[in-house]
Amino acid sequence: PQIALPKALYPGRENSSGMALWDESELGRLGEVFARHTGDGWTAGPDGERQPIVNPSDTRDIVGQCANFTVDQVSDAVARASACGWKDTSVEERAAVLERAADLIEAETPALMALAMREAGKTAANAVGEVREAVDFLRYYAVQAREVLTDGHAPVGPVAAISPWNFPLAIFIGQASAALVAGNTVLAKPAEETPLIAAEAVRLLHEAGVPDDALILVTGAGDVGAALVADERVQGVVFTGSTEVAQLIQAELSKRVSPDGRPIPLIAETGGQNAMVVDSSALTEQVVRDVVASAFDSAGQRCSALRLLCLQDDVYDTTMEMLRGALAELDIGPSTRLCCDVGPVISTEARETIEAHIANMEAAGCRVERGALAEKAAHGTYVAPTVIELDHIGQLGREVFGPVLHVVRWKRGGLDALIESINALGYGLTFGVHSRIDDFVARCADRIEVGNIYVNRNMIGAVVGVQPFGGCGLSGTGPKAGGPLYLGRLVSGEDTVRRV
Ligand code: NAD
Ligand code: ALA
Repeated sequence: PQIALPKALYPGRENSSGMALWDESELGRLGEVFARHTGDGWTAGPDGERQPIVNPSDTRDIVGQCANFTVDQVSDAVARASACGWKDTSVEERAAVLERAADLIEAETPALMALAMREAGKTAANAVGEVREAVDFLRYYAVQAREVLTDGHAPVGPVAAISPWNFPLAIFIGQASAALVAGNTVLAKPAEETPLIAAEAVRLLHEAGVPDDALILVTGAGDVGAALVADERVQGVVFTGSTEVAQLIQAELSKRVSPDGRPIPLIAETGGQNAMVVDSSALTEQVVRDVVASAFDSAGQRCSALRLLCLQDDVYDTTMEMLRGALAELDIGPSTRLCCDVGPVISTEARETIEAHIANMEAAGCRVERGALAEKAAHGTYVAPTVIELDHIGQLGREVFGPVLHVVRWKRGGLDALIESINALGYGLTFGVHSRIDDFVARCADRIEVGNIYVNRNMIGAVVGVQPFGGCGLSGTGPKAGGPLYLGRLVSGEDTVRRV
């Protein structure tokens, strides 16, 4: 099997259609790059007892080691970041550092891809996207800084940047680079599942010219994140993760104000219960293709992923039949093969939570259809993509972070009530609509309360700078990542409010 990758990443390998072609043996070469690059293996964190970091696509594979910060070490790190003079550098110098980091990361693409695949269970295509998005963030925030910031702007920092495992390079770098280019020092805490790729990112940012004390990798689980947030010297928090943790952080920050009496800024990007509405004019083949990508790409572990498909009554049965066919065709695990469509979920615990939800829905009488796991997937934490038919939206419950799609039927004349019940879920991240009737699309777009709307396409993979990404309600505070308002939240002063 072959896979087409953007030729910019692999010059000289392109075919006549301008894409670079790789086959499975080349993935082995990625593994060699990885081994050569790491020597004794990847490590992250301070000295101290190291924990193994496990490959979710084959849990027998130990990818590297990580030691976590103690509470005292967190305090020392905040002291170092507070004393660092990074804010005295010019906007131009900081933007140039980000651009150098972008070049370094592009040059390290194969090693970073290999690490994203082994540490986070990404497929090859998703690993390319991961590196690409990280580079896009660096270049975009460099351009934005020159556009909207002046040397007179004061940073809010030090900033704690707390990130999830599902975009362990892109979101980690997006958060850190935005805060840094605005003049803040950054305490960057990756998810406990994916510290190794974060350590590589920090190494490359330091090599690009960020001083050691301006960007400090703080490894650990939720207790370490909580210690950072509770430290009174931390003057801003950028968080991406679950709604529940965002609420805890908000509650902690509400207990204090900055030295000049302002609230401590929090940018939180959180979960979603994202819906797609399909009417009877939509093209069924296109709907099914976009539904499969939206619900099952990245094993459904995208905050943007489709969770609730709403099919108009007239096309329900034909669309479901075609969807079941597409489900049966998916290649599920091991994700180190280029033909793999759906990789593992992040951990055994995640798999158990997802499987428990599916079992509960089945026990409640819902019809459940599942894809077939490849035999070779036995050693990884794979979940077969699953479609669950609901009687009504009320059965949906909370965000299930995996390859699980819920489907409901809606009837002609019921659009407004349908949109109202989607809004009533309280989230507001992404929304998709498939229709060939402009008025129908406009009516949905007018009424739905979300950050990002996708029309007649899939609803994942927002492109930095082109599709600023973020939600409202339980899905986040804004401003959108990769958009023109983001840097403004990371500097203080009235002037900023006018300019940005
Ligand atoms: P999570 O909230 O469990 O963890 C996210 C980060 O917060 C991790 O680094 C974790 O160690 C840290 N953390 C945990 N408890 C903490 C505490 N009390 N104080 C401070 N930090 C703490 O989320 P996750 O499981 O890693 O990621 C999945 C979630 O992230 C999903 O809900 C998904 O929808 C969301 N997400 C949202 C976006 C977005 O842009 N809106 C993008 C990716 C993921
Ligand atoms: N930004 C990511 C997407 O759009 C989460 O899928």
